[in-house]
Amino acid sequence: MQNFKYQIFTSVIEEQIKNGILVSGDRLPSIREIKEKYKLSITSVQSGYDYLVMKGCVINRPRSGFFVIIKVNEDIPEDLPTFSPVVSNVDFDKKVRLTSKSDKSSEQISFNTAAPTDLLVPQKLILRKMQEVIRKKGSSILRYYSANGSEILRNQIAARATKFGCKINAEQLIITDGALQALYIALSSVTQSGDVIAVESPCIFSVLEVISNLKLKVIEIPVQYKTGFNIDFLKDILTENNIRAVVLTPNFHNPTGILMSDEAKEELVSIAQSNEIPIIENDIYGDLYFDGERPSTIRNFDTEGWVMTYSSFSKTLAPGIRLGWLNTGRFFEQAERIKFSLGRSVAPIFQELMIQLLDENSYDRHLRFFRKQLEIQCVELLNALRLYFPKECYFHRPHGGYSIWGRLPKKVNMPDFYKFCENQKIAFTPGDTFSYTDAYSHHFRIIFADRITCESIVRLKIIGEKVQSILDEPN
Ligand SMILES: Cc1ncc(COP(=O)(O)O)c(C=O)c1O
Repeated sequence: MQNFKYQIFTSVIEEQIKNGILVSGDRLPSIREIKEKYKLSITSVQSGYDYLVMKGCVINRPRSGFFVIIKVNEDIPEDLPTFSPVVSNVDFDKKVRLTSKSDKSSEQISFNTAAPTDLLVPQKLILRKMQEVIRKKGSSILRYYSANGSEILRNQIAARATKFGCKINAEQLIITDGALQALYIALSSVTQSGDVIAVESPCIFSVLEVISNLKLKVIEIPVQYKTGFNIDFLKDILTENNIRAVVLTPNFHNPTGILMSDEAKEELVSIAQSNEIPIIENDIYGDLYFDGERPSTIRNFDTEGWVMTYSSFSKTLAPGIRLGWLNTGRFFEQAERIKFSLGRSVAPIFQELMIQLLDENSYDRHLRFFRKQLEIQCVELLNALRLYFPKECYFHRPHGGYSIWGRLPKKVNMPDFYKFCENQKIAFTPGDTFSYTDAYSHHFRIIFADRITCESIVRLKIIGEKVQSILDEPN
């Protein structure tokens, strides 16, 4: 094996990581410090760091330096629970209120809000661009824009999506007040109250709320760790149920973080086409992939317009930018009428802001940093959970998005566990919140939207020890 000069320092760093002397998040010496210490050229030190970055144990944060990042074990010990198909009634019991306490004191560490925190929002960029828009556009942003949104913006969104294979016709695109409104429009365009639809399970409660408001009935389709939405389960229920739409989040699903495989996406499209069922695809997390390439959307495989894809900039820029979009496919006319009735047009200031950010590529530049930062936060939190919770617990590593899906052993009384977390001022989202069934009563969602601090580590350790003490109790 060839010996590179840089191995003189990379081997030391690798050894220290292996022995736990260096841990995730630790800052490594600068290029200059290594150069002086090991009498190497700047080029050799740079190559050494490139090698560590390529191996995945070091990350280069622009303008901050090199940091340790420990990739965690990705074994998947078991699949998610499954259950018999049941048509659930429209009333979704809003357990969320019982659990995600509104008592948000300043001491509370929140692992339950899937949106960028102040640290992640590119505040300076957004505020600067907003001022530019106001200066450039003047009073024109005080008028109504067309109901389907600015043509320039629709063309930009369509062109950007087409780059990753999601063929969108700007004529069939509607600009919306965020993703949830897009879902509301999509569902209202293809269903009537009392219809039965299929949704992924677990399913984010905001989506269940929209479904509930539209008085639809639901059959939950379990997701699986390896391939996502369970296509065979869907096929089985189609024989006995008149399913009017399927709603799912194929990329970095909330709450599990699961990525649906391309094979499953393609198969779903062929089922939709042969059964003439609209697929409503939430791609709100698709841009937040940690490695490799941007995942495809289900729409990538659609040739007949049965897939309605929607997204927004709430999770990638700032939740206060109320702007999303819906690709309506073959349902444009119904969808545009519904959009009109929900509000004549999306605030022009947000439309013009996004035109600026997309036009100058600022959005994609921001995403490059944003994804790296999210991945660091994910790995750090996952490491802490796996280190401090007993080995009988399971924490699923996502490859993008915002959430880690955890499971505690059956022996743990979950209401007591949440009470204990609340006393420790830690907020997670209980699994029960994501389903009409009780299949996820021992699961919970942990969000890594914020940087992990020493204080949060200490509190997670206390909670992990508590779980261990419960497991150690005699039966
Ligand atoms: C899956 C999913 N869809 C939609 C939303 C809401 O998005 P928006 O703020 O763009 O309406 C959220 C977050 O609350 C979400 O997790």
